[in-house]
Parts: sequence; C-alpha cells; structure tokens
Amino acid sequence: MQTLTIIKPDAVAGGKAGKVLAHLEAAGFVVRAARMTRLSRAQAEAFYEVHKGRPFFDSLCTFMTSGPCIPMVLERADAVAHLRKAIGATDPAQAEPGTIRKLFAESKERNAIHASDSEDNAKREIGFFFAESELKGNWA
Ligand code: CMP
Repeated sequence: MQTLTIIKPDAVAGGKAGKVLAHLEAAGFVVRAARMTRLSRAQAEAFYEVHKGRPFFDSLCTFMTSGPCIPMVLERADAVAHLRKAIGATDPAQAEPGTIRKLFAESKERNAIHASDSEDNAKREIGFFFAESELKGNWA
C-alpha cells in the first residue's frame, strides 16, 4: 500500500530532511517516488483545500510556500495507519515520544511532516504530485 508524505519547509530549511527520511526508512517504508519542489500559492491552497475557512489556513499556505519541500510516495503494509503513527500528533507538544514530530517539529504549524490521513486522501494526494508512470519505477 502507498501513502503520501511531505517533508515540510521547516524541516528542509533546518537541515533535518535526511534525519526524517532515515526515520521513515527505519520504520519500514520504501520511497517509491520523491521530488524537491517549492509550492506555489495556488498549489498550497489546492492541496489543503479541505482546511479552507479554518483560522490557520492562510498562515499554513504562507508557511508551505516559504521554501522547498519534499513530497514522497511511501510504501509498506498498512502504510496510511503506520505513517500516521510514525509522525505523531499535529502538535509536537502532544506527540508521542520517538515520533517524527516529537523529534523534529517546531510547532503545530511548522510540524516537519505531512501524512495522508486516509486511503482515499492518499490516492488524491499522490495524484496531486506524481504521475502514474512515476509510481511504478524500475524496481516495482
Ligand atoms: P498537516 O498534517 O499537513 O495538515 C494540515 C496542517 O495544518 C497541519 O499539518 C499543520 O501544519 C497545520 N495546522 C493544523 N492545525 C493547526 C492549528 N491549530 N494551528 C496552526 N496550524 C495548524
């Protein structure tokens, strides 16, 4: 099963991308596709459209366009649930010890990593960043 993650601009700018990736690999995920990109405002607003109208939406989109991020397609058994567990709660103060957000996030907004929260959203979010042809790779 596949899911989507994004190493967010705070983690990339803070030189933590490699550590976050190492943590994901240690948790049994295989990287199936990856790219470094800087989101446009329109892309950030579209990606997070489900949060439109929330008080943090504008700030979230400003943060997500503030620098490069690294969207990746990750694969393992039960990928969506395992990734949610590995990243921890949205607010690092509430995240379990050993989770990526506990280890690397700065705040509820600058929280190092995004993960799809359901299989349906994983499909949508993977399609947002990657073409079908990029997901098969030479090693599938
Ligand atoms: P993410 O898992 O990418 O999904 C939505 C993002 O909005 C979340 O991580 C945070 O970066 C941000 N977010 C969610 N809730 C809040 C909040 N209460 N205040 C600020 N940012 C938030």
